[in-house]
Amino acid sequence: MKITYYGHSCFGFEINGKKLLFDPFISPNPLAKDIDVESIEADYILISHAHEDHIADAEAIAKRTGAKIISSFEITTHYNKLGIENTHPMNIGGGWDFDFGRVTMTEAVHSSSFPDGSYGGSPAGFVIESKEKTFYYAGDTALFSDMKLIQERFNPVFALLPIGDNFTMDLTDALKAADFLNIQQIIGMHYDTFGFIEIDKEKSLKEAEQAGKDLLLMNIGETKTF
Ligand code: NI
Ligand code: MN
Repeated sequence: MKITYYGHSCFGFEINGKKLLFDPFISPNPLAKDIDVESIEADYILISHAHEDHIADAEAIAKRTGAKIISSFEITTHYNKLGIENTHPMNIGGGWDFDFGRVTMTEAVHSSSFPDGSYGGSPAGFVIESKEKTFYYAGDTALFSDMKLIQERFNPVFALLPIGDNFTMDLTDALKAADFLNIQQIIGMHYDTFGFIEIDKEKSLKEAEQAGKDLLLMNIGETKTF
């Protein structure tokens, strides 16, 4: 599978020939100013929760590409009202088989409201099972011990975890999450985008190394094959 980083918590995945886009927040992100949002292709857009820093470009990309939005019932209903019919509503604990693999919506310890304050459903993460690899995209969350259940049930090989602190867990908790998940490889997200979540990258990489984990901090625009 191929992974492209678009900044903040936004990643593009190519899995079994299908293109997935997680939490599109690109055009308002000054760190992602070199990304051409118009050139991003998607078959599916997965949205973890309704905060602006996870949905900003979702409507435009969904309308341009015709991608199916996979998210909580409350979020897909919001996009239905904006004229986007191609949606798949889910809720925490449920899974569905798509043509690229199976998506299970997991809990996230966070909040979820749209920019206007309206209710955005429960915040979520996703486990993606595919013929290629199984991985866990945590969304915005605190550390929670039920990540052990995600390990037992799905046994992901890597995880995308927030590490920016203040609004989510920090790296120290993400390293504990990696223990709960029994994974070696963490892909960091939700850091450096704005003042509250700036991190010292060198220090973070050192801390991960000392904990015996591989922390990957991708460059914005970079693509890696996993
Ligand atoms: Ni959030
Ligand atoms: Mn966020």
